[in-house]
Amino acid sequence: MLSVDELNQYYGESHILRDLSLEVPAGRCTCVMGRNGVGKTTLLKTVMGEVAPRNGAIRFDSEDLLKRRPEARAGMGIGYVPQGRQIFATLSVEENLRIGVPARRDKQRKIPERIYELFPVLKEMRYRRGGDLSGGQQQQLAIGRALVLDPRLLILDEPGEGIQPNIVAQIGEVIRRLNREDGLTVLLVEQKLPFARKYADNFVIMDRGQTVAGGDIGQLSDDLIKRHLTV
Ligand SMILES: Nc1ncnc2c1ncn2[C@@H]1O[C@H](COP(=O)(O)OP(=O)(O)OP(=O)(O)O)[C@@H](O)[C@H]1O
Ligand SMILES: [Mg+2]
Repeated sequence: MLSVDELNQYYGESHILRDLSLEVPAGRCTCVMGRNGVGKTTLLKTVMGEVAPRNGAIRFDSEDLLKRRPEARAGMGIGYVPQGRQIFATLSVEENLRIGVPARRDKQRKIPERIYELFPVLKEMRYRRGGDLSGGQQQQLAIGRALVLDPRLLILDEPGEGIQPNIVAQIGEVIRRLNREDGLTVLLVEQKLPFARKYADNFVIMDRGQTVAGGDIGQLSDDLIKRHLTV
């Protein structure tokens, strides 16, 4: 569904993504793993158009994503939950969710009830300010906001980072339901091994801006972990 081919990206002189290629197959949950600073977030930002690559290709279905304006990419059906959540602290929960509504492909202009079904806490707290929510609730809000536009692909950047374990588990279960029940394709960046093992179907390991391994999650061996994931 998403296919990245020989991507090169630089911040100034620093070469971050180096001939990076990877495939995100439709209907599956793919987990991108790698140590801090290897370029995971940069990859996602390049997909969303927040940073521009020097060369390479990104295809979403058969469309050339790099030809699309950054603002148009979400509307093509790509939901993005950035690292650190980035919700609007002074807007209410409902207002945060409403932001995605105009980009819906079906022109429906309501917050889908499915979001409140998946995250009942967002319904309970819909008139509260985003900034009043706990870290875990803000992460649920960030995921809800990405779902409002009814994406076909959901991209999440370390959704469990800095969040208490019981909410991380709830988020994992929602990711699984979205994948299994709603047929959403998921691209997840996650460094926590137990989470990846539990919720991902396949993995890709990045090291120094390149993909160095990948396969079914069952093939994630101790040797690969030692070589590319432990510090
Ligand atoms: N805006 C920027 N300008 C310059 N360098 C940057 C910028 N953003 C990131 N970098 C550098 O690019 C490299 C890759 O960063 P990136 O955030 O993509 O890594 P990451 O794999 O997501 O790390 P983490 O696991 O800590 O989130 C790092 O060396 C980082 O310091
Ligand atoms: Mg990152």
